[in-house]
Amino acid sequence: MRDLQTNQRTARGGERDDVYLQRFTVEFEYPVHFTHGLFDPANDLLDHVLDRRGVDGVRKVQVFLDRGLVQAWPDMTRAVKRWFDDRTDRFQSASMPRILPGGETAKHGWKHVGAVMRTLGRLHLDRHALVIGIGGGAMLDMLGLAVSLVHRGLRFVRIPTTTLAQCDAAVGVKNGIDAHGMKNFAGTFAAPFAVIADFDFLRTLSPRDWIGGVAEAFKVAMIKDTRFFDFLCEHAGALATRDATAMDRTIRQCATIHLDHIRLGGDPFETGSARPLDFGHWAAHQIECISGYRVGHGQATAIGMAIDSHYAMQTGLLSAPEYESLIRALTTCELPVWDPCLEERNEHGQRRVLAGLESFREHLGGKLTVTLPQGIGARCEVHVMDDDRIECAIKALETITGRTVRSS
Ligand SMILES: NC(=O)c1ccc[n+]([C@@H]2O[C@H](COP(=O)([O-])OP(=O)(O)OC[C@H]3O[C@@H](n4cnc5c(N)ncnc54)[C@H](O)[C@@H]3O)[C@@H](O)[C@H]2O)c1
Ligand SMILES: [Zn+2]
Repeated sequence: MRDLQTNQRTARGGERDDVYLQRFTVEFEYPVHFTHGLFDPANDLLDHVLDRRGVDGVRKVQVFLDRGLVQAWPDMTRAVKRWFDDRTDRFQSASMPRILPGGETAKHGWKHVGAVMRTLGRLHLDRHALVIGIGGGAMLDMLGLAVSLVHRGLRFVRIPTTTLAQCDAAVGVKNGIDAHGMKNFAGTFAAPFAVIADFDFLRTLSPRDWIGGVAEAFKVAMIKDTRFFDFLCEHAGALATRDATAMDRTIRQCATIHLDHIRLGGDPFETGSARPLDFGHWAAHQIECISGYRVGHGQATAIGMAIDSHYAMQTGLLSAPEYESLIRALTTCELPVWDPCLEERNEHGQRRVLAGLESFREHLGGKLTVTLPQGIGARCEVHVMDDDRIECAIKALETITGRTVRSS
C-alpha cells in the first residue's frame, strides 16, 4: 500500500490519481575483444569470455558458422569442434556447428530465422545456454534476431569475420532482417553476451568485403573525429592494398566510436528520430534494395555519404576542399561514389533512390531527420532534403564514375 502511494506522488502532474508509474533501469555490459588466432591452443580468450558470469556446472553451447567463411576456411568446423572437445568438463556442445547462409540472402525474410529457432528448440537450449555466431554482419544480424526471440533471448556471442562486422555491425545492440521490401524491416534491440573480433579471419575476404568496413569508418570520422578522418585519408592507399596494420587500427577506432556513441549518445535503443551514425544511410539502404543487394552495404554507404556530402557542400555546411578530400580518399580506397542503379526511375519518372528518404523516416519514426556533416568531424541534423540538390549531387558524382569500382 505504501509503495502505491509513493509511486502516485512520483507520477507528478496530478492529471490522474490512479496511476501506478512503473520505472526501472537495466544496466547492460558486454566486452568487445580484438585478437588473433582465436581457436589456437595457446589463445585462452574464448575460455575467459565464455566463463564470464560463470554458472555452476557444464554450460550448453551451440555454434553457427557463416557458409562463406567455411568455404574460405574449410577447417573451421573441425577447429571449433576440437576446441569444445578439449573442454567437455565445462562446455557441452548441443550439436555439431551448424552452417548458415552468408551474405545478404541470410537476411531475406523470415526463412532462416524460423529455421534457426526450430534448431534451437529441438536442441533444448535454455536461457543460460550460449549461442555463438561466427560470420559476417548479415548472418549475425539474422542469427541475432532468432536468438533474441527464443525464450525471449539466449546469450549470444558474436564473432564477426568481416571488416564491416568487426568495426560496426557486430559491436552494437541491433539485429534484424530485410522484409516487406525494406532493409532491416524486422529486428530487435538485444545486447550480446560478448563480441570477439579475430583479425586473422579478414585475410580471406573478397576485395569488396575487405574494403566495405572502411566506408563505415569514414562515416564516423566525417561526423565525429577529424583526426581519424586524417588517418583514413593518409592510409587510404594502404587500406586498398590490404595493409593489415592500417586495417587493424581502422577497425579498433571505428568500433570504439560506435561503442562510445551507443553508451554515451543518450539513446542506445534509438527511440528518438535522429540516428547520427546513419549518415549516408537513407540512400545506402535504398541503393542496396534497388540493386537487388548487388551493391554491398559498405559500398552503398560510401555512395550515400558521397551524395550527402555533396549536398552538404551545396548548402555551405562543407567546403569544397573538405568534400573533395572525402571523395579522393573514398576513390583511393576503391570505394564507389556512384552506381548505375541511381539512374533507375519509378512510373512517375522520379529517381527510385529518393524513396529512401520516406523509408528512412518511417524506420526511425517521427519527422525526417537526416544527419549531414558540418565541416569534418562534426555534424548537424536537417529535416528537409531538397530533391533538386540531391539530383545535382548524383549528377556530379556520375562524372567521377571512371573511378567507380567494386560496387559489387
Ligand atoms: N546490426 C547492425 O547494427 C548493423 C550495422 C551495420 C551493418 N549491418 C548489416 O551488416 C550486413 C553487411 O555485413 P558484412 O559487410 O559483414 O557482409 P556480409 O555479412 O554480407 O558478408 C559478406 C560475404 O563475406 C562472406 N564472409 C564472411 N566472413 C568471411 C571471411 N572471413 N572470409 C571470406 N568470406 C567471408 C560471407 O559469407 C558473405 O558472402 C548488412 O546486412 C548490414 O545491414 C548491421
Ligand atoms: Zn552501415
